[in-house]
Amino acid sequence: MLKGFGVMKLKLCFFFLLLNVIHDVQSQSATKWIANMPTSIPVLQGSCVVIPCIYTYPKPTSKRILNRWKGFWMKGKTIISTNIPKWRLTEEFRKRTQFLGKLQGRNCTMLLDAVRPTDVGPFYFRIEMPQYKSFTYPNTVTLDVKSNPEPPSMSVSVYEKVTASCTVSHSCPTILPRFSWTHSGSVSTRSKKMNAWQWETVSTLSFVPKSTDSNLLLNCTVLYRGGKRATSSMILSI
Ligand SMILES: *[C@@H]1O[C@H](CO)[C@@H](O)[C@H](O)[C@H]1NC(C)=O
Ligand SMILES: *[C@@H]1O[C@H](CO)[C@@H](O)[C@H](O)[C@H]1NC(C)=O
Repeated sequence: MLKGFGVMKLKLCFFFLLLNVIHDVQSQSATKWIANMPTSIPVLQGSCVVIPCIYTYPKPTSKRILNRWKGFWMKGKTIISTNIPKWRLTEEFRKRTQFLGKLQGRNCTMLLDAVRPTDVGPFYFRIEMPQYKSFTYPNTVTLDVKSNPEPPSMSVSVYEKVTASCTVSHSCPTILPRFSWTHSGSVSTRSKKMNAWQWETVSTLSFVPKSTDSNLLLNCTVLYRGGKRATSSMILSI
């Protein structure tokens, strides 16, 4: 009982700490131009990446209604993504980017698909508010483009049933990796967000082993958005 109370006190403490942090961000947001984005994101060539981005700006003193906001993601002088509908992007980025964030909600999140080895960046964000100000945020994000995926991490437990899992992390939540196994059974797949730019997808296979399954070589192959594959294997000694 007493122990439980201690935990609750700790939780409350943590809650107030969290409130303080949120409060700090909000009070900053009223006075400063700040864009929050990762400095570097690992991404597999051919796959997609969601670049998380939040920005703030000093509160305007005038009460004029701000509308027709324009947001631009840039690489050098090239616009690679914008919230303006029907904007004609250069050939290099056409149909590969999507401006996901709601600009007026201070969200500048962007998706880049079919990532090429040349997509390293640095990318930066610019906001234009016609009734107020325009600002180019100084921080940038670079992509660490990998040409080949890591083999998935694999684990197996045997207890009446064989339960095998294959786990990968990736940057593309819109088109998840697909898994295949070299043994039949029931398969389930789950995904969860690990941090602002990384997701984890796990495929779990389970089956009741037969006597012919002793020393079975079990493979798990993952197929990523863009077509890259990686395999891991384990030998089951039952
Ligand atoms: C920003 O927008 C993206 C895309 O809609 C969304 O997934 C994300 O949760 C938003 N971030 C915040 C902090 O609201
Ligand atoms: C399983 O993986 C091993 C090692 O990666 C490979 O040699 C073998 O051909 C694979 N077997 C199947 C059926 O895919």
